[in-house]
Amino acid sequence: EVEEKLKRITGKLIREHSLEEEEYRYLIDHREDARDPLAREARRVTEQIYGDEIFVRGLIEFTNICRNDCLYCGIRNSNENVERYRLTEKQILDCCAEGYELGYRTFVLQGGEDGYFSDEVLVPLIRKIRREYPECAITLSIGERERASYQALFDAGADRYLLRHETADEGHYRKLHPEGMSFRHRMNCLRELREIGYAVGAGFMVGSPFQTSRELAEDLKFIETFRPEMCGIGPFIPHRDTPFRNEPAGTLELTCFLLSVIRLAWPSVLLPATTALGTIDPRGREKGVLSGANVVMPNLSPTEVRRNYELYNDKICMGDESAQCRSCLDMRMRTVGRRVVTNRGDLRRTPREE
Ligand code: 5AD
Ligand code: FES
Repeated sequence: EVEEKLKRITGKLIREHSLEEEEYRYLIDHREDARDPLAREARRVTEQIYGDEIFVRGLIEFTNICRNDCLYCGIRNSNENVERYRLTEKQILDCCAEGYELGYRTFVLQGGEDGYFSDEVLVPLIRKIRREYPECAITLSIGERERASYQALFDAGADRYLLRHETADEGHYRKLHPEGMSFRHRMNCLRELREIGYAVGAGFMVGSPFQTSRELAEDLKFIETFRPEMCGIGPFIPHRDTPFRNEPAGTLELTCFLLSVIRLAWPSVLLPATTALGTIDPRGREKGVLSGANVVMPNLSPTEVRRNYELYNDKICMGDESAQCRSCLDMRMRTVGRRVVTNRGDLRRTPREE
């Protein structure tokens, strides 16, 4: 009986790229026998759209100063054990130059919600990067801001924005964030970013505290319907200086399964095999690719500051130079039959999705 129902649901997901929330939940709860066939199908769909190409984004972690206090995050404002830093404009531009030489055509400027980086500071910086690298994508990942600010940064030349929704369940959101942070505000930011014209990235952690298959089913339905250009998912990993220090980490198995389901629910989506996935398993990113991921985001930050951008413990690549990350990824992707390519790595819509 379970077997019959599971067959019906997986068949529907593969054919229609859509499930009811209850069906997603059932699939998660009974995934054992669905895992391998769904991973196979997710790989097939990925290859049909993206061939053997893996897109890379050069990640520049330019400030670890953050006004927020997310309960899971190692650089939360109340963590006093972090050595705080801000890269200068010159340091950021140098990272871009090094990245460009290494073949990156997308730069992701990621940071905490640091009040120093007002529009007055960011607009000239983005303009410079835009002028210097006209064919590159400029991605921002700097949290919640005013609509007018998103607009100003877009007008300066930024074209993508990553803002994980973290959880699509409002009650769950409240358990992961301190009073004062608002689920609706975050979701509204995602809508505004899209309206302005950014390609947007949403996403969530797998195995975050209080998460059950019910919350995950909501996340999947949200991704299916909102269709963010990118969806970043990785396992929750506890950080010793946070209230969640004793909570268990999310698993490789569930993360890979969800990568496959997301690929099938929204086939063209850009799906990174995240650093967090590479942290809980030495071949995590490769396994992510075999489950349907098609993007990797190696670190371009200066090695001196990398150890201070610790969202979770035991993060990989802490001591590696940018060039090492690049060649490491090249080799790793080759072991799973993929090839890292040098282009912007834009989303490709299938005729059915136009
Ligand atoms: N474990 C895994 N991922 C985390 N993030 C923040 N803290 C953790 C953690 N402890 C993720 C969040 C955030 C992204 C930049 O990193 O989802 O949006
Ligand atoms: Fe950084 Fe492998 S990606 S060393």
